[in-house]
Amino acid sequence: MLDLEHFPMSPIPAVNVACVPQRSPLRYPGGKTWLIPHVRAWLGSLSAPPELLLEPFAGGGIVSLTAVMEGLSTRALMAELDRDVAAFWRAALSSTPALKERIRRFEPTREAVNTLAASAPRDELEHGFRTLVLNRTRRGGILAPGAALSRAGENGRGVASRWYAQTLVRRLDEIERHAARIGFRETDGVQLLASMVRQPKPGTAAFVDPPYTAGGKRAGRRLYAHNQIDHGRLFALLAEHDMEFLMTYDHAPEIVALVKKHAFHAVQVIMKNTHHARLAELVITKQPVFDKPGI
Ligand SMILES: C[S@@+](CC[C@H](N)C(=O)[O-])C[C@H]1O[C@@H](n2cnc3c(N)ncnc32)[C@H](O)[C@@H]1O
Repeated sequence: MLDLEHFPMSPIPAVNVACVPQRSPLRYPGGKTWLIPHVRAWLGSLSAPPELLLEPFAGGGIVSLTAVMEGLSTRALMAELDRDVAAFWRAALSSTPALKERIRRFEPTREAVNTLAASAPRDELEHGFRTLVLNRTRRGGILAPGAALSRAGENGRGVASRWYAQTLVRRLDEIERHAARIGFRETDGVQLLASMVRQPKPGTAAFVDPPYTAGGKRAGRRLYAHNQIDHGRLFALLAEHDMEFLMTYDHAPEIVALVKKHAFHAVQVIMKNTHHARLAELVITKQPVFDKPGI
């Protein structure tokens, strides 16, 4: 049941993801394409566009990609702890032509996918490519241990149902065009955030979308290999320092309590999950953004 009593509804609805440019080659479980209109409004509400947008839990990186490609932030720095996802981002940002060539040559049969899954990548490019293939052919894009291959898939295309080579190459073309302004680090996002908030540089803002396992919800455990975050510490870090941020979480009592404890601002966005159940997500900011009259 939705608990609607704590925070106002956002004036911006969750968009149908088909209405927002899909810029990431990864299909990301818990991906935030639906949040892009909120991100645009938040970045637009700051006194100036940030010099640097920090995304400490990058996953598919949709917010960093969108911010840089739409000129909403000069640069972005993404961090991710998952070594497979990290290998993908390094290949996508530093070896883009070779990765595109690898995509063009690949025939996504069940056998080829299984062979790739069982192989130990020889180098960084192969590792990044392997991540992309597994991400696009496993059910729900889930890379965590135990994830299954898509069965029937779309239009009976089986494992290949989400392997659109031309589309992936086009997205990588765009990433290549902006790569000089997008940084990536394979590191703990909480540590990175801590080091950046302690030595704040003006013009830095953070988009924070951690894996969520608090409140008895276990989705984060199934979806991501790395899912243990000290949410209380994360909130405290953001409260103690001046960096602007936008953070998203499932609506859960622990998170409501943390928002109130630190006097942050939050609005609710109602989402439909894949089973069409209505779920409330929280969009949390330091300053009033979406709960301000006139937005
Ligand atoms: C909710 S997902 C982010 C989804 C992303 N916003 C998108 O739209 O694709 C959280 C991500 O954080 C990563 N992660 C978990 N713990 C981390 C940590 N301590 N530091 C950096 N990344 C971490 C997970 O591997 C996962 O990719």
